[in-house]
Amino acid sequence: MQEKHETVLLHEAVEALAIEPTDTIVDATFGSGGHANEIISHLKEKGRYIGIDVDETALRHPVNELKNATLVQGNFRELESKLETLNIKKVDGILADLGWRMEQFSGNGKGFSFRLDEPLLMTLGEPADYPFTARDIVNEWDETVLADIIFGYGEDRFARRIAKRIVETRVETPIETSVQLADIVYAASPAAVRRGRVHPATKTFQALRIAVNDELEALESFITQSIASLAPQGRLAIITFHSLEDRVVKHRFREAAAAELGIVITKRPITPSTEELEENPRARSAKLRIFEKN
Ligand SMILES: C[S@@+](CC[C@H](N)C(=O)[O-])C[C@H]1O[C@@H](n2cnc3c(N)ncnc32)[C@H](O)[C@@H]1O
Repeated sequence: MQEKHETVLLHEAVEALAIEPTDTIVDATFGSGGHANEIISHLKEKGRYIGIDVDETALRHPVNELKNATLVQGNFRELESKLETLNIKKVDGILADLGWRMEQFSGNGKGFSFRLDEPLLMTLGEPADYPFTARDIVNEWDETVLADIIFGYGEDRFARRIAKRIVETRVETPIETSVQLADIVYAASPAAVRRGRVHPATKTFQALRIAVNDELEALESFITQSIASLAPQGRLAIITFHSLEDRVVKHRFREAAAAELGIVITKRPITPSTEELEENPRARSAKLRIFEKN
């Protein structure tokens, strides 16, 4: 059975936007519409909702009725051009709930999950539109670069051993599938890691996904464009799920505040309540940060 996506920090994130009924709100990661419905419930007829998702299948989820609701397929790194196409100059609130939905990892044929044997692609959109796939990285890139990626984007302290093992294996046979890669990482990991609660390949898979989709650059660019697109007192709220993303958000917000573009509302990130964590343990790494434009 496919697991359903549970919206994380639902009320906290929508409250963070301090929505007025006539506001224009951008939901940059529409997903399965969980935050969307909550946002829309705060808007009246004159309010406007724009939902963006890079994954076209996400946009098939139903949303509650609102006259001015628009769903757009695209990457949030194209925020300004998407708004321009819709003839929107300024918005009052922007939400991004980063990462992926469970459905996206289970069986979309792109090798995001080490539990399913699929081709190693890991592209969010069509593979042909990307300069390289995960397959290219593991089969063609230098061992040191590979290790840097696994360490830098996966924060895996066994990155060097994993990279070494990948390179040793690919000399014999090309690495084509997700399970093949997961087995290599498993074999390269020390026994203590193998016995752990988390699969040893988790961090390597995260690292490859970030590299293929250029996720951190996309996030930086999205933050800059968001702040530029906000009306005075407009708010940007971002939920992250790993420390690399959280660091980008924290630093960008600080830089924007230092440049007197606005203020950081959250001195410390908002995290899920005990009740939410009991119901959805996957929310444990979520952090919400809020910025308000001057
Ligand atoms: C955690 S889900 C969002 C869930 C949503 N807030 C909800 O309540 O249902 C993240 C979504 O963001 C999308 N996404 C990830 N990176 C993106 C990007 N760079 N641009 C646009 N959408 C992106 C994914 O396809 C996924 O559907």
